[in-house]
Amino acid sequence: MKEGRFEHLVKILTIGESAVGKSCLIQRFTKNEFSPHHTSTIAIDFKMKVIEINNVRLKMQIWDTAGQERFNTLTAGFFKGSDGIVLTYSVTDEKSFQCVNKWMDQVQKLAPVDVKVILIGNKADLDAERKVSREEGEAMALKYGIKFYETSAKSGENVQELFLDIGNQIFEKIEQNPPAWMTASKGPNMSSMMTKPKLSCCGGAPRET
Ligand code: GTP
Ligand code: MG
Repeated sequence: MKEGRFEHLVKILTIGESAVGKSCLIQRFTKNEFSPHHTSTIAIDFKMKVIEINNVRLKMQIWDTAGQERFNTLTAGFFKGSDGIVLTYSVTDEKSFQCVNKWMDQVQKLAPVDVKVILIGNKADLDAERKVSREEGEAMALKYGIKFYETSAKSGENVQELFLDIGNQIFEKIEQNPPAWMTASKGPNMSSMMTKPKLSCCGGAPRET
């Protein structure tokens, strides 16, 4: 990355049932790797990846939550202050698809009102085991007014696209209410940006329950 570009830290949360492929999607995006073995995420973890849009570096802090029910309370504490949420189900797992409604309920109760949410039907490579059609996924996304992708962490299909899409949506939100450093001809250096508080437009208060 070239020096002198402005940098903005954004918080992205991945949520969804256990074993739908949240960790694998993050691993594919950040390292371009895939592991066929399921190691359930314990508690929470995060990975970083920087993307660049219009000369602005978006430093994506991607939180990998645990889908197992015993961690739901812990996960709930991480919705606050999120800029983007990647809600994932597996196209091979009908229950994980039904649970999208439960997760959206959590998003609406706990996440900032202007959070950008994207719905993902993962494991699209497993055609023979498919239980949820693309049309059903599209209808679910339409119901909540959010974007939808089918992905495969295994083949890499649509993985970059989904994270770049949510990055773009967050960037557009920042642009609508640009901070001084974004409009100034010369901004502070990147490391000093990282120590500044987050923008109010991206870290709004949680919704009333
Ligand atoms: P928790 O951490 O328990 O919440 O699960 P998770 O959602 O993080 O699932 P994880 O990424 O660990 O993946 C679960 C299993 O599904 C692993 O065995 C992965 O190899 C497999 N898997 C993930 N994504 C894909 C995919 O796109 N295609 C196929 N065929 N398998 C996948
Ligand atoms: Mg995991």
